[in-house]
Amino acid sequence: MEERLQKFLANQGICSRRKAEELILAGKIKVNGKVVQELGTKINPEKDTVEYNGEVIKKQVEKVYILLNKPIGYVTTVQDQFQRPTVMELIKDCKVSVVPVGRLDMYTSGALLLSNDGDFVYQITHPKHEISKTYQVTVKGIITQQEIEKLQKGVDIGDYITKPAEVKIMKIDEEKEISRIQITIHEGKNRQVRKMCEAVGEKVLALHRSKIGNIEVKDLKLGEWRYLKSEEIKSLLVK
Ligand code: URA
Repeated sequence: MEERLQKFLANQGICSRRKAEELILAGKIKVNGKVVQELGTKINPEKDTVEYNGEVIKKQVEKVYILLNKPIGYVTTVQDQFQRPTVMELIKDCKVSVVPVGRLDMYTSGALLLSNDGDFVYQITHPKHEISKTYQVTVKGIITQQEIEKLQKGVDIGDYITKPAEVKIMKIDEEKEISRIQITIHEGKNRQVRKMCEAVGEKVLALHRSKIGNIEVKDLKLGEWRYLKSEEIKSLLVK
């Protein structure tokens, strides 16, 4: 997005807006290698190079960390080749460009982090980090204690044996013939929770990620988002 040169200079903490105007009029500022002295000059901080005293002024981008309660029907990607709705559409009010931290399937709802902090994204998604993720899973039929124990110990999901997980029964509805279980895993293979349930013969009817680390999503309605608090960011990075 374009902005006035003096506003850009002031926003980067170079000087006040008035002082910036003086610098421009005095021919001290270059845009794309050329001195500009017009106060109405607009620049695009993403594309244009602004120099003062021979030094390029880099756009200071604030680091942003978002928690979104993703509804089903949205894909976790910045752009979708099939034009399906993306999670980016839900965070339009955030003017900083962020990327999803990890992924939730299109038909999974719940906690999804987004950030523009590359180090944060790298750390959180690195398998070594083993951040815990808690899911509320609705399965068809009445789940047995034996199946729960198998899920806890680890199951073969095709090309991988899952690591120990915390699994507990939350509710059994005998009338509707459905069970709700809570699964906490410390890894994140593709479609892991669905595959784990399939491995013990259970069909997943609904999947919701309720928690990442200690951060719960229940204070947000589906489709709502908020910025993480600094202690929440720290808690995710501490192992
Ligand atoms: N496990 C799944 O199967 N799907 C998700 O979206 C997340 C975890």
